[in-house]
Amino acid sequence: MRKDVTTSMLETDISNIWGSIEFSDLMKMEPRLSKAHETLAEGTGEGNDFLGWHHLPSRTTEAELDAIQKAANQIRRDSKALVVIGIGGSYLGARAAIEFMNGVMHNETDPVKIYFAGNHLSTRALNALVDRLENIDFSINIVSKSGSTMETAVAARMFRWLLNRKYGPEKAKQRIYVTTDPMKGKLRALAKEEGYVTFPIPSNVGGRYSVFTACGLLPMAVAGIDIRSVMAGARRAETELDVRSMDNPAWLYAAARNLMYENGKKIEMLCSYEPDFEYVGRWWQQLFGESEGKDGKGIFPACAQFTTDLHSMGQMIQQGERTLFETVVRFQKEPRELKIETDWKNMDDLNYLAGKTVDYVEENAYQGVVTAHVDGGVPVLVLKCGPMNSRMLGYLLYFFQLSCGISAYLLGVNPFNQPGVEAYKKNMMTNLGC
Ligand code: PA5
Repeated sequence: MRKDVTTSMLETDISNIWGSIEFSDLMKMEPRLSKAHETLAEGTGEGNDFLGWHHLPSRTTEAELDAIQKAANQIRRDSKALVVIGIGGSYLGARAAIEFMNGVMHNETDPVKIYFAGNHLSTRALNALVDRLENIDFSINIVSKSGSTMETAVAARMFRWLLNRKYGPEKAKQRIYVTTDPMKGKLRALAKEEGYVTFPIPSNVGGRYSVFTACGLLPMAVAGIDIRSVMAGARRAETELDVRSMDNPAWLYAAARNLMYENGKKIEMLCSYEPDFEYVGRWWQQLFGESEGKDGKGIFPACAQFTTDLHSMGQMIQQGERTLFETVVRFQKEPRELKIETDWKNMDDLNYLAGKTVDYVEENAYQGVVTAHVDGGVPVLVLKCGPMNSRMLGYLLYFFQLSCGISAYLLGVNPFNQPGVEAYKKNMMTNLGC
C-alpha cells in the first residue's frame, strides 16, 4: 500500500478509507487534481476575482502586521474587554483561533475578555452582554466586508450607542475599530465620517477566506496570540502545499473526500478529540459548506467533538444510513502529562489504570473508535498534526483553505461565491419593509 503523505507539519493518513474507494481510483485522480490546482494557482477558474487569500501569508507586510499589533496593544491598554461584532466569515476565524490557542475558558483567565456579538439576533444574548459590560472598560471591533449585514449592523449600532453613552462621542470614537472593504460599503463610509481606526479586508478576499486578514488577526492579537507566528505557519503551508503531486496532503485530502462523495458518502464529519478545536470545526464547516454546496452538489460538512459526541451521535455514526465518512484531526500529545491516581478503596474499579495517563486512555479510545467506525462502514481520513500551537494553527487553516479551493474545482463548482445565502436576506429585508 502506498505510503501516507507527509509534510513536516501535517500528514494525510488514508489507511482507513479502503472498502469505500479503491486505491487505483484515487491515483487516477492525479490529472484532475493537477488541473484543479493549476486553475486555482493561475486564476483561470470561476471566482478568480476572489483569490487574494492564496498568497496572503507571504504577501502580508511587516507594516500591516505592525499596525494590527499596535491597535491590539492600544485595546489591551485601555480596555478590559473587546466585543468583536461580525458573523460568518467575519467572525468564525477569530473565534476559532482564540479558542484553539487560549482554550474555551479563555475569558476566565485572560486579562482582556473577548466577547462576540453580531452573530445572531437574540435579544436575550445581547442583553446579557450589555449587562456584562456595564462596569468594565471595553472597545469594539466591527467586522463586515459588505458593511451591510443585518445581524452585524444591529449589534454595531447598539454597542456604538453604548460606548457613546459611557465615554461621550469623542472618546467613544477611540474605542471603535472597523474591519471592512477598503473602498466601498456603508461601514467604510461611517468609519470615514467618524474617524474610526480601520483595517481592510482586501476586495479580492471573501469572508470565509479572511482569517489571515485583520478580520482574524486583530482579535487574535488582542487575545495575546502571536500573530507573526500564526502567519509563519500559514506561510510555510503556502510554500509546502504548492507541491503539484500526490505527495501534497491537500491533494490527497481533496481527492479522497471527492472520491468518497462520488461513491455515495454525502456527509463529512470533521472530528477532533480536543474541546478547544470546536470552533475550528465550525469555521471549517462554513468554509466547505459555502464553497461547495451549490448547483445541487456538495458534501454536507458536519462537526463532532469526540469522545463527547460518541455519547450522543455514536449510535447514528455506527449504524445509521451509510452515507458518512469522517475526517479526524489529531494533534501531538501535550507535554504536560495528567496521571490517574491510585485509590486504595477502588470502589470505581479504576485501579487497573492507576499510574497511566489520560492520554493513554484517550489514545486507546481513539484507536477503538477508528476500528469500530471503519468496521461499521464509515471510512476515516486522519489529518495528523503537530502540537496545538500558533504555527500549527496557521498551517492547518491554510491547509483547509487550499484543500477547499482544489476540492470545489474538482467538484465543478465556483469555490468563492455564495449565491444561496442571499435568499433569506431578501425575504427578511422585504419583511422589514426595506
Ligand atoms: O463567507 C462569507 O462571505 C460570509 O460568511 C460572510 O462572511 C458573512 O455573511 C458576513 O458578511 P459580511 O462580512 O459582509 O458582514
